[in-house]
Amino acid sequence: MASSNKPVNNFPKLFVVLGLALSIFFAVRFARQQKECKLQREACIEKLEGIYTDISGFGISEIERNYITAQGGSHTYGEIIYPSMEAVINRLEVKKEDVFYDLGSGVGKFPAWVHLTTDIKKSVGIELSETRYEKSMQALGRLEEAGLLNKSRTLSCVHGDITEVDFSDATIIFMCATCFSEPLLQKLVDIFLELTPGLRIVTLKKLPEHPRLVLIKEEALATSWSKGSPFRYYELLAPPTA
Ligand SMILES: C[S@@+](CC[C@H](N)C(=O)[O-])C[C@H]1O[C@@H](n2cnc3c(N)ncnc32)[C@H](O)[C@@H]1O
Repeated sequence: MASSNKPVNNFPKLFVVLGLALSIFFAVRFARQQKECKLQREACIEKLEGIYTDISGFGISEIERNYITAQGGSHTYGEIIYPSMEAVINRLEVKKEDVFYDLGSGVGKFPAWVHLTTDIKKSVGIELSETRYEKSMQALGRLEEAGLLNKSRTLSCVHGDITEVDFSDATIIFMCATCFSEPLLQKLVDIFLELTPGLRIVTLKKLPEHPRLVLIKEEALATSWSKGSPFRYYELLAPPTA
């Protein structure tokens, strides 16, 4: 009987097995990440409800109410509810390179939500009311104690007027704005026009018209005061070249 002494080449088989093993590994990892992401969102509502159980932005002093009104805001308070925060964030397809600001952030729930449910590098709330700002810092402290903050990314709250605090690194701006006066909105538009084109702005109040601010979409989402408040999505275009 004829026999061959040729060595068997197992390399192609090895590559196929290795390829299969790697595909299975990445498929399992992807499925696990998807599951964790969903769990994280559900858990997030539960965690934030716990953190904010006795922290509320409603009820500030008359002095503060008058001060906010004088700055073009309003003392009436309301909040975006968590499912609507999630809808906005999904709609915007937030990436880790994004920088999110909530202009008039109350007790800081939305910036916290963005930090906890995405891998965004920076999420900031700016709030004029000292009482609400202090409460947002109290919530931040609790989030840290609970080990819920990712130290390699930024979650912060700033006490100040949105027309004075620097938010020039923003790529996404949210503002409830329902109670912002027209002069305050105009001041904000003038600031937005100086920021990087591509900036996305989500606002519940229509912005004063400008050719570089394009209304992309409008949708109704629930807030603490209505089942269907209008959320408007704008994008900042680059200035025309001369
Ligand atoms: C309706 S609340 C929205 C809270 C939060 N962004 C949310 O959507 O759940 C609006 C907030 O804007 C704040 N505000 C009003 N004028 C402001 C200003 N000029 N600078 C910073 N914050 C301001 C108010 O104090 C209030 O807390």
